[in-house]
Amino acid sequence: MSQPTIESVLKEKRLFSPPAEFSQNAHIKSMEEYSQLYDKAKADPQQFWAELAEKELDWFEKWDTVLDWQPPFAKWFVGGKINISYNCLDRHLKTWRKNKAALIWEGEPGDSRTLTYAQLHREVCQMANVLKKLGVQKGDRVGIYMPMIPEAAIAMLACARIGAPHTVVFGGFSSEALKNRLLDAEAKLVITADGGFRKDKTVPLKQQVDLALANNGVPNVENVLVVQRTKEKIEMESGRDHWWHELQLTVSADCPAEPMDSEDMLFILYTSGTTGKPKGVVHTTGGYNLYSHMTLKWAFDIQDTDIFWCTADVGWITGHSYIVYGPLSNGATSLMYEGAPRKSNPGCFWDVVEKYGVNIFYTAPTAIRAFIKMGEELPKARDLSSLRLLGTVGEPINPEAWMWYQRVIGGDRCPIVDTWWQTETGGFMLTPLPGATQTKPGSCTFPFPGIIAEVVDLDGNPVADNQGGYLVIKHPWPGMMRTVYKNPERFRRTYWEHIAPKDGQYLYFAGDGARQDEDGYFWVMGRVDDVINISGHRLGTMEVESALVSHPAVAEAAVVGKPDEVKGEEVFAFVTLEGSYDPSDDLVNELKQHVIKEIGAIARPGEIRFTDAMPKTRSGKIMRRLLRNLASGQEVVGDTSTLEDRSVLEKLRGGV
Ligand code: WT7
Repeated sequence: MSQPTIESVLKEKRLFSPPAEFSQNAHIKSMEEYSQLYDKAKADPQQFWAELAEKELDWFEKWDTVLDWQPPFAKWFVGGKINISYNCLDRHLKTWRKNKAALIWEGEPGDSRTLTYAQLHREVCQMANVLKKLGVQKGDRVGIYMPMIPEAAIAMLACARIGAPHTVVFGGFSSEALKNRLLDAEAKLVITADGGFRKDKTVPLKQQVDLALANNGVPNVENVLVVQRTKEKIEMESGRDHWWHELQLTVSADCPAEPMDSEDMLFILYTSGTTGKPKGVVHTTGGYNLYSHMTLKWAFDIQDTDIFWCTADVGWITGHSYIVYGPLSNGATSLMYEGAPRKSNPGCFWDVVEKYGVNIFYTAPTAIRAFIKMGEELPKARDLSSLRLLGTVGEPINPEAWMWYQRVIGGDRCPIVDTWWQTETGGFMLTPLPGATQTKPGSCTFPFPGIIAEVVDLDGNPVADNQGGYLVIKHPWPGMMRTVYKNPERFRRTYWEHIAPKDGQYLYFAGDGARQDEDGYFWVMGRVDDVINISGHRLGTMEVESALVSHPAVAEAAVVGKPDEVKGEEVFAFVTLEGSYDPSDDLVNELKQHVIKEIGAIARPGEIRFTDAMPKTRSGKIMRRLLRNLASGQEVVGDTSTLEDRSVLEKLRGGV
């Protein structure tokens, strides 16, 4: 089982203290220090964040108001002028960090590149000037659809530099998914590459962009900037498509960072929700800069000598906050790896750790479970002694995987930080501080200072210890999303109306179920809505259903998550066919391909079961609970009395 069950969690009594030496050198050295920070922040959150904003970031102009809170809409550091690209680059050039490695990059085929802060700054300025030359102005949205190469980070920082909000679309998404996101964001330009290397193959990114833009599919896009990576032959549409390496030679390397309002939009990142359409999560400049900076500094205890490696893709929030913005704002060295463990090189992660002497390693439980399956020999064959801290994110980690991670990768020497957060939160919300917090395997422990988290019932009342409930956040924080792009009502509805405001206080509803144990530790149990978690990636079941019913053979589709040993969950689809179609293996494959085309490979159904009817209530609602039971091969449990046609259940057990 991938997710901790209530029983396993209640039985989990193991407690691990930070090694004394780690605590001595850490930014936050003890539980007393954590408690002081936490209490101070709780007593006066505005003062707490204002002091940090002043101390940790450079501002062109100071703010007038720390927080303007018109629930559920927050504004932080109102009136302040700031640029995150300046904080990630320019300010370090005035220090010894000028020639420190900002990005260390390892390509999948084994090529590599290191960019110092000065070099990164230069390329970012050049790309910013190229964007300007192609007509991008402050406020224009730019799509980024890139492999994991330095130019992905350069593109993000270049957009931030001139005040053009970016929307990064994960390179694994299909042209359809890309198109929908570019349309919603009304992007004016797309930055992409000819392709990228992934699992010993090339991914034809530019071709996907061509498909998305075909027949004027995204009318706002005027130009496409193409980075050369695979050197495979691609079509370049004259007037629209431009090679980065050619334009780079035509611009100056001087481009001052645009002073942005603290609340100017920095980026939109699309994420799955309970409806068929992904929502554009909006993050703004000042608050996000501070929050990604502080969370990395304290929870990963970033020091100037560290090589920090976050294995996420820049297409997800983890890549935004902890490959690009958080590490660079801190002046740290961030490692970026294009590849993934694959048949020809299952131990590639450990090669990279050894090659660069990685000190801090951050990955997802699904990867850890895959490592466990591959065996201890692979990591043991490499020197991992440089590691001093490990992190995990994306889904609940089962205690066995946590223990393996600590023993085999961490050599029983490295603390583990299990960081709970979301695209919406901008940065870590519940996390140990590794020099301070005693950890329990499977628990993300306590709130970050400044975060007030609670487990409540639907009326907003806190539940008792070890009782399951809904995870909510009580007070606004600088890194929180500001709205759903072009849809403030959806923002209100999705996050602020499920749980009633309590004593006049609005509660942010995360969509996760959780419990707090008798010591106050938080245990996140997973989503309580129609969102499933595949290898740490979020997918709306409705999104997959919409993709399925857009195929002519499909009359109705219901999608649920089926537990999977490595991926956590996988897509299980129940499908009823249009009259003229018959179930067949060919059709199963065709539908799987169709979903890949509509969304991307991450949404590929593991199993499709044809049925001639769905289990529905008398009011016509599909009873997903039953389908979940069926998909996981469990007995159907609980009340089935509202089921309209009981014979459907029997038929579903075996399929048609
Ligand atoms: C959802 C957010 C934030 C980066 C990765 C995913 C789940 C995330 C944990 C954790 C238990 C976790 C939650 C959350 N999740 N981290 N440490 N323990 N669950 O970002 O795609 O926005 O997904 O991932 O269910 O709501 P995302």
